[in-house]
Amino acid sequence: MIIHPTGKFDNHARDYAHIEALPLAAAMGAEIRGVNLSAVSDAQFAEVRDALFRHKMIYFRDQRISHGDQEAFSRRFGPFAPDAYTQGVPGHPDVQPLIKEADARAGMVFGAGWHTDSPFLPQPPAISMLYGVDIPPYGGDTLWANAALAYALLSDTMKTMLAPLKVRMSMRRVLATAQAHQAPDDSILGRVAATRDLPQLPQDIVRKVEGSAHPLVRTHPVTGDRSLYCDGTYALGLEGLTPAEAEPLLGFLVAHITQPAFTCRLRWAPGTFALWDNRLCLHQAFNDYDGFRRELYRTTIAGETPA
Ligand code: SIN
Repeated sequence: MIIHPTGKFDNHARDYAHIEALPLAAAMGAEIRGVNLSAVSDAQFAEVRDALFRHKMIYFRDQRISHGDQEAFSRRFGPFAPDAYTQGVPGHPDVQPLIKEADARAGMVFGAGWHTDSPFLPQPPAISMLYGVDIPPYGGDTLWANAALAYALLSDTMKTMLAPLKVRMSMRRVLATAQAHQAPDDSILGRVAATRDLPQLPQDIVRKVEGSAHPLVRTHPVTGDRSLYCDGTYALGLEGLTPAEAEPLLGFLVAHITQPAFTCRLRWAPGTFALWDNRLCLHQAFNDYDGFRRELYRTTIAGETPA
């Protein structure tokens, strides 16, 4: 059964034995039911992992889990990735707080542009997860886009042209925006913003600004899916092309990936837990909930050198 109108993608749910999957949109995403994330059996986990790679983004409602539970569930996918931005919460270095207080007035929020997580690292995270604790009554949704579907919908000529290209991924724009628009504080971006008062950037930030060059078209090591690997936040240029050549091409590709037909949108609630395949999804947060508190916790799983 093909339910995406282009006929290029099939987001229908498999008939699982230990979980239930309910597709969220034609392009991607599914709600998973019948799972308590603090006690996932091996049989359930195998189906959850299969559903993640099938639907690209999956989520669970009404979970009540501790940081320890989030760590334990996350670790079943593999070792934690080094986090590019925070030191974690006390006692849980791999659980990263993502908190905006009700009285915070920020010119930007973490994740506000379309992006893939930490692509400036030589080995970007494979999987990202977020657990929602305190959620605004409206606003603060997250959008995802399916970059494998976007790749499948390119012409053969464009695919041939893109095949040898490498994209330079860098933290440069995030650093500049945080330094310009964010007050130094304890938030993720506040710590990045604080670097503007330093005589020189710390070495780890310098490395992230230099970034990494990755294949513009990458192949998923588990599913074999081919997908576009570029975004509107970290992709700075294409190796061997001038900025005048690379910018319109990257602009086209990001607009192509993020067109509404390739996306899904999650309305968070307290207890919602979402995870996505960071190798072939872009995602975007919104800075649209001033006056309300939003508190989520993030874990990321180590990935390989993109190929
Ligand atoms: C992120 O980019 O990981 C944050 C997404 C969100 O806060 O909705």
